[in-house]
Amino acid sequence: MLFMHLCTLVLKILTLPLQLAELVGLYKLYKRVFPFMLYRITFNYNLKMNEHKRELFRSLQKFRPSNGELRILEIGCGTGANFEYYPAGCKIVCTDPNPHFKTYLQKNMTKNDHLVYDTFVVATGEDLRGVPNESVDVVVVTLVLCSVGDIGVVLQEAKRVLRPGGGFFFMEHVCADPSTWTFFFQHVMQPLWYYCGDGCEITRTTWECIENAGFSQINLRHIQAPVPAHSLIQPHIVGYAIK
Ligand SMILES: C[S@@+](CC[C@H](N)C(=O)[O-])C[C@H]1O[C@@H](n2cnc3c(N)ncnc32)[C@H](O)[C@@H]1O
Ligand SMILES: *[C@@H]1O[C@H](CO)[C@@H](O)[C@H](O)[C@H]1NC(C)=O
Ligand SMILES: *[C@@H]1O[C@H](CO)[C@@H](O)[C@H](O)[C@H]1NC(C)=O
Repeated sequence: MLFMHLCTLVLKILTLPLQLAELVGLYKLYKRVFPFMLYRITFNYNLKMNEHKRELFRSLQKFRPSNGELRILEIGCGTGANFEYYPAGCKIVCTDPNPHFKTYLQKNMTKNDHLVYDTFVVATGEDLRGVPNESVDVVVVTLVLCSVGDIGVVLQEAKRVLRPGGGFFFMEHVCADPSTWTFFFQHVMQPLWYYCGDGCEITRTTWECIENAGFSQINLRHIQAPVPAHSLIQPHIVGYAIK
């Protein structure tokens, strides 16, 4: 434990220049470049997670209202990596705090013409004030809760916009089991990872937040993602909760 904290400290010191860069605003530039990087990263991620995503999003059908199309809101939609998994005829509201995703989203939207696009709202998951109460059947987050400011607040916002009985779908990388080397390296690498991953934290125990958010039912699995062994983002949680 002491050794781990020591290593973390060393990494913190090494990233001091990055912390300075953030202060002087260079980080804003990075926000523009990140969508391009993410476009490539999610392409690979989807290839690896294809089966898991297919299986997860098969359950979307359970939330389709009897009298119409399924309304989905995606928080932190990025480049639209999940669109291809949504059933035909869904209506999608996309939200992301980074406006630079719009071009990539649009490309992806044109490709996925089986969906109906509602709007792209530039907003954080903590503040979806443009979206009315109980207005969607499903909320989706994938690889987002690792970088939000406050998971608890995001979950309350998700619950607010969900209709009663609506589904909260998630696929997130999480903190590893404390007895593993992955756990050790996650903690050591965290300070550096934060800057490379656009504010992503690899040491979050996200499942606890979901379990404490007051959903009526939770369907949550811990899995080892089929990414290279000992990869820092191998431990995942996947599933859905019901409002
Ligand atoms: C790793 S990307 C994942 C994108 C996409 N969901 C996917 O699966 O490919 C993380 C996304 O979360 C967004 N994000 C960061 N902070 C956020 C917040 N507070 N609320 C909502 N989204 C946020 C980022 O802009 C980015 O698009
Ligand atoms: C949407 O973009 C993601 C990468 O950001 C990619 O994995 C996915 O295949 C794209 N979907 C389509 C249909 O272009
Ligand atoms: C929307 O929901 C929130 C929290 O659930 C509640 O405080 C607020 O009064 C509701 N607003 C409307 C217009 O019903």
